[in-house]
Amino acid sequence: MNYFSEFGGSIFKKEEAFYPDYLPENIVYRENELKQMAYNLSALLKRRTGVGTLLWGTPGTGKTSSARYITKELSEEAQFVLPIYINCWECRTRPAVLTTIIEKLGGFSPRRGVGADEMLKEMIFLIEKSKKIPVFILDEMDTLKSDRILYDIGRLRENHSLNYGFIGILNKLEFLNKVDRRIRSSLLQSLIEFRAYKPSELKSILLERAKVGLIPGSYGGDVMGVCAGFGAKREGDARIAINLLWRAGRHAEREGKNRIELNDVESIKENNEPESKINKEEKKVVELLKKGELSFKEIIKKIGKTERMVRNYVNSLEKKGILKKRKEGKTIFISLGKRK
Ligand SMILES: Nc1ncnc2c1ncn2[C@@H]1O[C@H](COP(=O)(O)OP(=O)(O)O)[C@@H](O)[C@H]1O
Ligand SMILES: [Mg+2]
Repeated sequence: MNYFSEFGGSIFKKEEAFYPDYLPENIVYRENELKQMAYNLSALLKRRTGVGTLLWGTPGTGKTSSARYITKELSEEAQFVLPIYINCWECRTRPAVLTTIIEKLGGFSPRRGVGADEMLKEMIFLIEKSKKIPVFILDEMDTLKSDRILYDIGRLRENHSLNYGFIGILNKLEFLNKVDRRIRSSLLQSLIEFRAYKPSELKSILLERAKVGLIPGSYGGDVMGVCAGFGAKREGDARIAINLLWRAGRHAEREGKNRIELNDVESIKENNEPESKINKEEKKVVELLKKGELSFKEIIKKIGKTERMVRNYVNSLEKKGILKKRKEGKTIFISLGKRK
């Protein structure tokens, strides 16, 4: 008995299991994909360059988790392997990606004004010094501004005699049309599709997560089934299903209950359908953004309202978690989705 245990919640045993960056102990239903990834990386065990791999599929199908999982296993097996994870959504340009890599290699973030070629040299120097073999994981690669950084990585062996591993992650394969053929043949040799989960698969993913994160017996009815169905309707997205269960758990806890019930799930689901709660003008903004990211100025132009009005729509949609902003220089870009 711990003196603090009675102050804990009544639902969660380990709430971290529901955090977006939680890496599950088991990635179920992805055995073939993980096997293929392991095979592609296996050359690194012999200190050679691996088969460049591209994971693709709709959101919430386990791409990021699988890449993190397999590279973690690899670095446990071979301590000279160093996974370097980069989310391209956060660094979209060649210098931005290089800066991140340099920092992860323990270097200092380069001073402003240093050219990208200098940064590349610094990266190569740091890799050589570390005597490690890096595995570059470029997540959300479709948000890269240019394929130049892929070229840099793809030439590491030929130009600098450095071995490496590479995993790129994409939602849509269309991005490949924008990538130089030479890069495709060196970096993206093995394409692995992550298909959407079926409702029954989502349900067992949820049950696994519940075992880790929830107090036994703290959920009733068909809570898992309903959460799974919700994710299944949204292109088999496990993230959405897990998030719904998490929020339903918090709802139950706030209500002072010790069990998540269907009505907790239902009340979260209602709030989760924010599109019904937005006004006509806001809806127009959402429709525009369905085709992809736009700058604030472009939205104003397309909506044909004053800057101030559009700013109000955008801020209100942001508060509701429907869209997110990002700044690049002085330009504000807006896209659908919650800020991570
Ligand atoms: N096969 C799986 N087994 C367990 N958890 C999974 C599985 N697939 C996805 N998840 C969970 O679902 C969420 C989304 O997965 P993620 O890897 O981020 O998907 P993607 O990168 O394809 O969008 C994460 O919380 C992850 O832990
Ligand atoms: Mg991902």
